[in-house]
Amino acid sequence: MPCDIAVIGLGVMGRNIALNLADQSHKVAVYNRSRGKVDLMLEEVTENQTVVAVDDLAELQQQLVAPRKVLLMLTAGAAVDSVIEQLLQALEPGDIIIDGGNSNFHDTQRRWEMLKQKGMLFVGAGISGGEEGARYGPSIMPGGDKAAWSLIKPLLQSIAAKTDDGEVCCQWVGEGGAGHYVKMIHNGIEYGDMQLIAESWSVMQAIGISEQRIADAFRQWNDGVLQSYLIEITADILQQKDDDGVLRVHRIVDSAGQKGTGRWTAIDSLELGAPLTLISEAVYARVLSSFKQQRSKAAQKLPIIREPFSGDLDNVLSSCHDALYASKIISYTQGFMQMRLAAAEYGWNLEYGNIALLWRAGCIIRSLFLTDIKQAFETDPALESLMMDDFFAEALQGAEDGWRAICTLGIQQAVPMPAMNAGLIFYDGYRTETLPANLLQAQRDYFGAHTYHRIDKVETESFHTHWTGDGSEEKVDG
Ligand code: 6PG
Repeated sequence: MPCDIAVIGLGVMGRNIALNLADQSHKVAVYNRSRGKVDLMLEEVTENQTVVAVDDLAELQQQLVAPRKVLLMLTAGAAVDSVIEQLLQALEPGDIIIDGGNSNFHDTQRRWEMLKQKGMLFVGAGISGGEEGARYGPSIMPGGDKAAWSLIKPLLQSIAAKTDDGEVCCQWVGEGGAGHYVKMIHNGIEYGDMQLIAESWSVMQAIGISEQRIADAFRQWNDGVLQSYLIEITADILQQKDDDGVLRVHRIVDSAGQKGTGRWTAIDSLELGAPLTLISEAVYARVLSSFKQQRSKAAQKLPIIREPFSGDLDNVLSSCHDALYASKIISYTQGFMQMRLAAAEYGWNLEYGNIALLWRAGCIIRSLFLTDIKQAFETDPALESLMMDDFFAEALQGAEDGWRAICTLGIQQAVPMPAMNAGLIFYDGYRTETLPANLLQAQRDYFGAHTYHRIDKVETESFHTHWTGDGSEEKVDG
């Protein structure tokens, strides 16, 4: 009996996606390079599910209904290229390869172009939600060859997360590497959200708020505008203790790992000229955390001495809530700004309201807040910056005092809060009509004759001052 789809790569994500597909009555062929994982998975298959193990990729030709659909759930990088190479022998023009891993969008773009020439349809689908999401409903961000969409839509949408009002968190994102790009931005935002939560935790601890009160605050915040999966799991984490009563989190080495998607987001921001300051700081914070030995030495040589905090703890808690909310608005503002620049640069037609909806359920950054973002882009699809939407502008103004107070407290108490400060600095920079960049331009013109524009002349005209000569100014052509 031919299968509807094949899943290649049965790591945690692949196995769970395959089981999810089988739950939805799809017949699934599975392949893994080492047979052990296949056998392990087959043990989980129930009698209502149809899962067929394949020992050789060449078998897929017979095992799948044409046009064949093959979902790769592999570690990003060389493994994806190598399996695609093998699949070229097994598949035929018109067949569809979906890469469901965390591939770099540049690789996806390259593979899409290469496979197009061979008549194959390639889709790079970002999949978010971790193990649980993969098994019971992830957020899926497919992009690539649009001709594939109608053929894979029923399969992918059947396994995707649904919002409470029944919207499916799996919609076509765009051509080429667009799906993996949007997943990369999702992960960058995930880094930002996580870092902001960690910074809030850290400042609350530093001024002596009790562990229980902090855990309760996160739990309570999850009932309001901050409601999100990451706040929810943080509240859970902050309850978990070792047998001696010490919070488990205090026993975890404070050196953060990263697989690369956050770093790619920051790299791309520099290439595009996107001001992704908050997420980039979150990436650097992970990098700095990994210098554990050097930090330990520096902590001895340059110890931090904190004055006991004598202010009102309830005030700090409420300010912290506001600071977290406002910084989060900035992080998403920057993420969406970057997607807009990427769409122009890479030729995609991204629909920002739909992207917010894709992230509304199933994925790691799922939150209530995304409904407001969707609304903002529905009101104005051409919105350049979320900060300019009336709802978010008001939210930022309402949260500003608390936000500034928490950043100031962090600076006073020597609590490193790079992401939250980067957010506030961006907020101030973005709404400053005249930045000191006029002085930078003068300096550039002084030492390099790089020229400048004048505020009282049209932008097409350039000028140079003879700074070390008579101070005269000349109009420069071109
Ligand atoms: C998701 C996650 C997922 C994964 C990251 C973690 O959306 O399901 O983002 O992709 O957890 O690989 O990334 P780091 O190892 O870089 O933290």
